[in-house]
Amino acid sequence: MNNELNMDRQISALDRVSLNRDRLVGLLDACLAIEDLAAIRQRVTQLYDTVVLLSPERRSDEGPRVRLRKDVLLTDLRQILETRTLQRTHYYLARLRRGVTEVRTGKINDINLNRWKEYDDILTGSLWVMERRDTSGTHKGWYWGNFIPQIPHQMLRRYTKRGDWVLDTFAGSGTTLIECRRLGRNGLGVELNPQVAERAAATVAEEPNPHGVSTDFVEGDCTAVDYAELLAARGLAHVQLLIMHPPYHDIIRFGEDARDLSNAASLDDFVALFSQVVARTYPILEKGRYLVVVIGDKYVKGEWVPLGFYLMQAVMAQGYTLKSIIVKNFEETRAKRDQKALWRYRALVGGFYVFRHEYILLFQK
Ligand SMILES: C[S@@+](CC[C@H](N)C(=O)[O-])C[C@H]1O[C@@H](n2cnc3c(N)ncnc32)[C@H](O)[C@@H]1O
Repeated sequence: MNNELNMDRQISALDRVSLNRDRLVGLLDACLAIEDLAAIRQRVTQLYDTVVLLSPERRSDEGPRVRLRKDVLLTDLRQILETRTLQRTHYYLARLRRGVTEVRTGKINDINLNRWKEYDDILTGSLWVMERRDTSGTHKGWYWGNFIPQIPHQMLRRYTKRGDWVLDTFAGSGTTLIECRRLGRNGLGVELNPQVAERAAATVAEEPNPHGVSTDFVEGDCTAVDYAELLAARGLAHVQLLIMHPPYHDIIRFGEDARDLSNAASLDDFVALFSQVVARTYPILEKGRYLVVVIGDKYVKGEWVPLGFYLMQAVMAQGYTLKSIIVKNFEETRAKRDQKALWRYRALVGGFYVFRHEYILLFQK
């Protein structure tokens, strides 16, 4: 399966090798000073052979280290060896040297662009097929209607830096906040249902916090929260990422509270309430930063109701730029597998399609 689609591939520590940084840079510099292609190839071949034999635990020798993905390094070295002109060879050598010596990041994430090939677990395609949810650590999946942790994980890595602030206005079981702890981002989660907020806060607190970030739950109605005040209490004026995973209207009722979006009396009310959340949070999102909306559609009396498209229009109407519509599969649970045949039969009889996807809508301020 294409890496882009395979969410389950985890790059393990086994894939990395640790090399003496000064010796590696010295060798690359020496090659860059040579004008003879054969002599360069001889040195690079020696390095290649050393790397092939290097296991993750084995250090080539002492001194300051650089840790590189073994497969990526070998591919880069092969590219150097296969290049036919001196000019191109020097170009690839210089590029490898930059990857070893310099970190180049953009304004909104910590991805080292000089080593971009090492990030093949970060998705860039608009179709996400995930076979399994991440159930590691405190990601227990106890909450019906939660999203899979890979969604906030991907979004935090691409659209935030370490130490940035993330606001999840429909925090539910705290999936986003758990990922915030893992990735060293500060998180704020608003949740209306007090029992859910309480349990979620306790779960999030169990997740180790190696970067010492804050991850707070705020019990309340996200259509009415005073966000400026919420941030001011933390000495902040802005957050760097907004994540919204509202109820898919009334498909799952999340509580009795009339302010709960899953109790909105009509589709128009649902869209209007969601628009209110977007409007209230717009001023506190830093300019140039992103809003992520996760939403699925529904059927009512045999008619497909495209909640995703309605919410997309509502967000765009408030001045956001649409950056992407990501289509994500619903991963199979046992219950879904057991009912598959029944739903297939119903679909054939009724002339409809069984929902298999939801949307991750991405907007920039
Ligand atoms: C789809 S769930 C979000 C699940 C979450 N992403 C997770 O992984 O657990 C929607 C959540 O929004 C909450 N909610 C509904 N209306 C709300 C409102 N007006 N203010 C705050 N939270 C609300 C519900 O109680 C529910 O927990």
